[in-house]
Amino acid sequence: MTNVPTTMNALVLDSYGPPETAFKYSTVPVPRLSKPTEVLIQVVAASINPIEAKMRSGNIPSFFVKKKAILGADYSGVVVEAGAKVVDFKVNDAVFGTFRHPFGPQGTYAEYVVVDTVKDEGLIAKKPDTTSFVDAASLGIAALTSMVAIVDSHPDPIKKVLVIGASGGVGMFGIQMAKERGAYTVGICSGRNKDLVLNTYGADRVVDYTQPNALAGEEPNSYDIVFDLIGGDDYYNSCMPLVKEKTGIFISAVGPAEHFGSKNVGVMTVVSVGATYVYRKLFASRRYAIVGALPHNKIKTGIGPWLQPGKKFKAYVPEENIYDLKDGAKAHAKIDSHRAVGKVVLRVSPDPIK
Ligand SMILES: NC(=O)c1ccc[n+]([C@@H]2O[C@H](COP(=O)([O-])OP(=O)(O)OC[C@H]3O[C@@H](n4cnc5c(N)ncnc54)[C@H](OP(=O)(O)O)[C@@H]3O)[C@@H](O)[C@H]2O)c1
Repeated sequence: MTNVPTTMNALVLDSYGPPETAFKYSTVPVPRLSKPTEVLIQVVAASINPIEAKMRSGNIPSFFVKKKAILGADYSGVVVEAGAKVVDFKVNDAVFGTFRHPFGPQGTYAEYVVVDTVKDEGLIAKKPDTTSFVDAASLGIAALTSMVAIVDSHPDPIKKVLVIGASGGVGMFGIQMAKERGAYTVGICSGRNKDLVLNTYGADRVVDYTQPNALAGEEPNSYDIVFDLIGGDDYYNSCMPLVKEKTGIFISAVGPAEHFGSKNVGVMTVVSVGATYVYRKLFASRRYAIVGALPHNKIKTGIGPWLQPGKKFKAYVPEENIYDLKDGAKAHAKIDSHRAVGKVVLRVSPDPIK
């Protein structure tokens, strides 16, 4: 391997629990290519998704995630080695993508990852020059989740969309995709994020959930899609009547428990959430869905086109949300707070010099 070291820095999950004790910034071997269809990528940036914080905490049962794993799914980086049968990518290509699982064993909170360009075709794409490495790393799971909710769940023309939890990492893509589809788009956020959701994400209007009776002025049966990023009963009860009967959909990325997975998910939680889901699916007055398995292989064909010239699609990653890899625990603490605005990103390596 030319210029590729044998060891790398990585954030290893040492134990389940709060971020400051869970992670160990460690030196581990650089993964090697084992098939001619694989590429080795030097990771420049990796974004953090709430699911990874839920796994780190141990709230999601540990058979999903093993200790000593490297978490992380979304990344951007540069190809530093390409196997003999790799056709779509070459050394020095800037790329971005995601992995099917955010729980390792080979996650993106590390300086190098290996991607199989055949088995994982579509999960990796070339990064346009107009998209920064930090922005490209932010797309992955969050943009795919929005695509499922705002595009796939309602392919017919849409006129009006409501995004609950609009200021966060998924909400910003939800708002932009709804606008791109031509819908009048309303975001539910707190007053402190009002300007951001209106002026940076591009919503037409916001509802400040911290105000009393915030939703009182909303017209029943008026929304084609209500996209819920908070979960729980309160928003379900207040926003379900706003969905158009027959044609509309209430689609949640979280489900019947608020911030599902932020607290311990025991057997009783699973039974209760499962029963509520089935009840809503069968008896709700309008169509109800939870974003399930993501179409991970649509990074290239589903998300790539949103970055082409002429599209205004853009991630929002404020400077204070960018952490060095070694400070990953602080980044996770921000996610745990449920107050993060835009995406939270790990800076893993410096931007390559062209
Ligand atoms: N099913 C799937 O495949 C899938 C995929 C991706 C994400 N998810 C889930 O979707 C959820 C959202 O993800 P995310 O990355 O967008 O989360 P996030 O970035 O952590 O969202 C944080 C934002 O939520 C806002 N917020 C907190 N409480 C709120 C409330 N009661 N009403 C309205 N806004 C509120 C906060 O703003 P304020 O501080 O101003 O309130 C903050 O800006 C997570 O639970 C995640 O696990 C599921």
